[in-house]
Amino acid sequence: MRKIAFCLALAIGTTYTSHVLAGKNDGKLMEQAQSQFKPIPTEPPALEGNEVTPERIELGKWLYFDPRLSKSWLISCNTCHNLALGGVDLEETSIGHGWAKGPRNAPTVLNSVFNLAQFWDGRAEDLEAQAKGPIQAGVEMNNTPDRVERTLKSIPEYVQSFRKAFPGEADPVSFNNMAKAIEAFEATLLTPGSPFDKYLKGDAGALSKAEKRGLKLFMDKGCSSCHSGVNLGGEGYYPFGVVEKPGGEVLPEEDKGRFAVTKTASDEYVFKVPSLRNIELTPPYFHSGEVWELEQAVAIMGSSQLGIDLNDNETAAIVTFLKTLTGEQPKVEYPILPPHTKGTPLPVVDVSSEAMMGH
Ligand code: HEC
Ligand code: HEC
Repeated sequence: MRKIAFCLALAIGTTYTSHVLAGKNDGKLMEQAQSQFKPIPTEPPALEGNEVTPERIELGKWLYFDPRLSKSWLISCNTCHNLALGGVDLEETSIGHGWAKGPRNAPTVLNSVFNLAQFWDGRAEDLEAQAKGPIQAGVEMNNTPDRVERTLKSIPEYVQSFRKAFPGEADPVSFNNMAKAIEAFEATLLTPGSPFDKYLKGDAGALSKAEKRGLKLFMDKGCSSCHSGVNLGGEGYYPFGVVEKPGGEVLPEEDKGRFAVTKTASDEYVFKVPSLRNIELTPPYFHSGEVWELEQAVAIMGSSQLGIDLNDNETAAIVTFLKTLTGEQPKVEYPILPPHTKGTPLPVVDVSSEAMMGH
């Protein structure tokens, strides 16, 4: 009898201590996470040299969805950054004008306003500078600033909308203002409210035990030395292959990344650390778009960036955590665009004979 009572006391005692200890460790884990990551805000941040007014956001939304910014009238920003698909096109590398295949995977536009610069190599300093790129790129929308301005000026509702968005300007319908309006709209494409953000805001129950284990591994193994801050990435540049270069399929030899921007030898194969927000929605992974499974992407990161072999169990735990980074997707009402007029330059479709033959 006495023995049983003793055992019982011991059992209760053990449960009690392990419970309290778990609570303490949980608190430590949360503190550690809070020191490295920040939740996505619910309101767009202030932009340098651009005012995020409701009129600018609305105009930017029209432009984002308007395929008439492309030479073919077939391709809009939303073609490759589909807001119904986490802001991406789910292609290995993007398909643009004339069915041409671009060299890189399309990163998401969601939360991209928080990245230190835009593109895999950071060649655009912000979203305003970025928006001018794809419209002119031959393998994307293949248009010219002059043709875009003529198109917009030929549509009276656009002229009115630019006037409202850029009040007091003598010539509001310009390629520059187009980019500003798109930037203002993109700044609203945020995904707050993910389970991980609830956790960061103090709700210990927002993550399951398995998800917390993944979070702990993500920090303890060193992933967060590069993937940190509000976007779990987007804050710096690192070589892809710090410790060990991945194979030529995943890291094609011809794309030297940031080297093309800085012409500095140490920037060969250096890329912007991508955001891991909503990562489960945006395969395939890496700038080459060669990896479709998140487990494989995580395993490659272990060997290439950290020089460690993560076992299947650890990889799975980290992936479980990464899935808690999916937030509330922006609710965007599809705009009804104003009709073109007789003065609007008509679409030009260059379909290469190869594409027509189904090659
Ligand atoms: C044909 C497909 C295509 C179209 C159309 C397109 N993009 Fe992109 N976008 C890409 C690809 C591919 C990249 C990555 C290119 C690189 O890094 O060199 C990219 C990169 C970006 C980025 C950088 C994100 C980051 O985290 O670095 C933003 C923002 C963006 N595009 C916005 C836009 C906007 C706005 C439009 C319309 C004006 C647009 N894109 C049109 C394919 C496209
Ligand atoms: C030394 C910095 C560094 C470390 C450490 C690191 N990463 Fe990365 N990560 C990068 C860079 C740079 C890329 C972009 C590679 C590319 O495609 O060029 C990347 C890409 C990724 C991608 C693909 C994202 C996308 O949108 O395609 C995932 C997923 C990822 N990392 C997860 C992890 C995980 C999990 C760990 C820890 C096991 C980790 N990373 C450790 C720098 C790092």
